[in-house]
Amino acid sequence: MSYQKIKGTQDFFGIEKQKFAFIEQTAKNVSKRWGFFEMDTPIFEATELFNRSVGDETDIVKKEMYTFLDKGDRSITLRPEGTASVTRAVVENKLYASTNPLKLSYFGPMFRYERPQAGRLRQFTQFGVEVFGVESANLDADLIYMAVETFREMGIKSMTVKINTLGDDRSKEAYQEALRVYFSTKVGSMCKDCQERIVKNPLRILDCKIDAKGEEIANAPKMSDYLSFESKAYLKKIVDLLEQLDVNVEVDQTLVRGLDYYTSTVFEIIVESESPGMKDLVLCGGGRYNGLSKDLGGPELKAIGYAFGVERVMIALDEKNTWNDFNASTDFAILAMDDESKTESIKLANLLRKCGKTVELDYVNTTLKPQFKLSERINAKTVLLIGEEERRNRTITWKGKNIVENSNNLPQEMFRNDQQTISMEQFFKRLRIYTRTKRWMEKNPKAYANYLLMRKE
Ligand code: HAM
Repeated sequence: MSYQKIKGTQDFFGIEKQKFAFIEQTAKNVSKRWGFFEMDTPIFEATELFNRSVGDETDIVKKEMYTFLDKGDRSITLRPEGTASVTRAVVENKLYASTNPLKLSYFGPMFRYERPQAGRLRQFTQFGVEVFGVESANLDADLIYMAVETFREMGIKSMTVKINTLGDDRSKEAYQEALRVYFSTKVGSMCKDCQERIVKNPLRILDCKIDAKGEEIANAPKMSDYLSFESKAYLKKIVDLLEQLDVNVEVDQTLVRGLDYYTSTVFEIIVESESPGMKDLVLCGGGRYNGLSKDLGGPELKAIGYAFGVERVMIALDEKNTWNDFNASTDFAILAMDDESKTESIKLANLLRKCGKTVELDYVNTTLKPQFKLSERINAKTVLLIGEEERRNRTITWKGKNIVENSNNLPQEMFRNDQQTISMEQFFKRLRIYTRTKRWMEKNPKAYANYLLMRKE
């Protein structure tokens, strides 16, 4: 019996896992510079939370949720996104009372039962940020800029921010009514879901994935005709600011986003795909959701956020081939020529690890060939050899990158592939950890640093 991973899920290992970690780390570093604090919420929540926030009429709730009854007959759903859970946590724990604005970030797996294809998975990973307590075009622009800067720092140089506004409550209502009137004459050509949406939530028709309604959508009433002066001015200010920050920004009046909680500003960040037949990649999506806290039983809290999919960013970076060099390298491989030297090599390895060096050794062999093979496999910068002679003379044999003094007496790293036997004292001086190891010795005379540096026969 053999097992395979579930359709739409991925294993990450080797270089792919390093790429994944690079994206995670870069996003976390950038968001820290913008003053965000990390938080975690559970991976599953009460189903009702998503029905209420993401919206009953959305594709996510209607078709894509992993929902099940637990043993206590409660309806549970694996989170399809993070905003609902974060807002639930902010309200439940009254986090809004402590800081204003409250800036939170999260990272983790999300689940949607979608048709798997490149960049569309059933389990994927989002990095998301949410800001509570402030409504200002300055904040919206700065947050969008942070997303752009995150992708730039990862190596994506060219991208487009598509932006739109759903207006304030009154504009949104007037627009929904205009869509109702417009689409009610086209019921015959619509999928079953959209026929229901005409009554319940006509905005959702604009991002239906089933019908090819290109022309019908292009000719549909435009949000801009129903926007208040304030809503238009708010959007214009964000666009102006982003342009001043050197961001390629485009107002797209058909952009409505597939989640119901959005109010006013909505945006997506797109990279053009260079592979023939591949659609442009939507890396990131977000917007304002000023009514969600209240809908979930909390106070009225202005809010905005975005999330991006790590796996999609990986595709974009693979296409552009702008990855860092992920060839892992190890600082030291220690080779031991007999059993007693093996013991010494373990002590030395752990001393070097204490000093922040990456060290690998062979736990079994005392012949050189397999040990050299290991050092090649792990791409060791330096190979250290310990044998009977080295033990007797308190020396070590060094092979590989060498630190030499140049004419200005400044230490310099040079690659010399020759072999050199040096005293342990010289060895620690060369690594610039002599003082540190001496300090340990003084504090703890029994430490193996003592053994290696001072042992008298
Ligand atoms: P979303 O547009 O549904 O928004 O998802 C955000 C990002 O998650 C997408 O742009 C994409 O990169 C990634 N993503 C979504 N679905 C998949 C999938 N099936 N496979 C791979 N990647 C996927 C949200 O989730 C909102 N919560 C964003 C937000 C935060 N709005 C306000 N705050």
